[in-house]
Amino acid sequence: MRQAAAEHILTPAIRTEDFRFYYGSHEALKGITLSVEQNEITALIGPSGCGKSTFLRSLNRMNDLIPDTRTAGEIWIGGKDITKPAEDTVALRKQVGMVFQHASPFPFSIYDNVAYGPRIHGKVRKAELDELVESCLQSAALWDEVKDTLNKPAGSLSGGQQQRLMIARALATKPDILLMDEPTSALDPISGAKIERLIQSLKTQFTIVLVTHNMQQAARISDRTAFFLNGEVKETGRTEMIFNSPVYEETKDYISGKFG
Ligand SMILES: Nc1ncnc2c1ncn2[C@@H]1O[C@H](COP(=O)(O)OP(=O)(O)O)[C@@H](O)[C@H]1O
Ligand SMILES: [Mg+2]
Repeated sequence: MRQAAAEHILTPAIRTEDFRFYYGSHEALKGITLSVEQNEITALIGPSGCGKSTFLRSLNRMNDLIPDTRTAGEIWIGGKDITKPAEDTVALRKQVGMVFQHASPFPFSIYDNVAYGPRIHGKVRKAELDELVESCLQSAALWDEVKDTLNKPAGSLSGGQQQRLMIARALATKPDILLMDEPTSALDPISGAKIERLIQSLKTQFTIVLVTHNMQQAARISDRTAFFLNGEVKETGRTEMIFNSPVYEETKDYISGKFG
């Protein structure tokens, strides 16, 4: 038992080995070897175009939707290399949820947005769905604001509320891992701060990979940081190390705002 428990703690949630990604002949990721630890927030930082979103989308095979792309190397999640063609991408995306920069609720009610994923996966009993929708909205710190208006269109919510709804929707399939691509960058500071606190509260239950351009945000809430540069991970480590004593000059220059 003790051995098993120790292994559980030591196994990273995600491990990539020399992972490469190509758009046509353009190699956007040039050999990424990176571990993401369970129940931590890992921040991916780096200038625009360095491959952060491409990497994030590789982790739940969202890039499959883009034509003329290919990969090399490995991505290990839950004991499997998920880059293999045989991977069940529907199951993978249930396990590895995603939240984007711009909230994109379906043109349905608040309730139906959260219930969407569970229904696809066969959950249809109303009492069960009601309970799940409530618990996801609670976890996303939105329940108190919407509990009396669940049948209203999701589009009637404010930007910050819609982003929390996207988090609730992602939680509804009971993922282990949450990928977030600049989830606060389109929001006002108050709504953004609310999402930031929410992300922090979620790491007890989930493993989170967060792309952010906001260095204060990365420093405040992440446990580990990976600095991407030109399709490579230039430097990675505990966030306080990366921010206080980076090894490379480029890392120091980027986090101090000299380029970006
Ligand atoms: N759909 C796409 N088709 C072709 N090239 C793309 C596509 N998406 C991104 N790229 C290219 O891949 C590189 C990495 O982009 P991206 O992953 O979006 O970087 P980041 O998220 O760090 O800004 C860039 O050179 C970008 O132009
Ligand atoms: Mg991006």
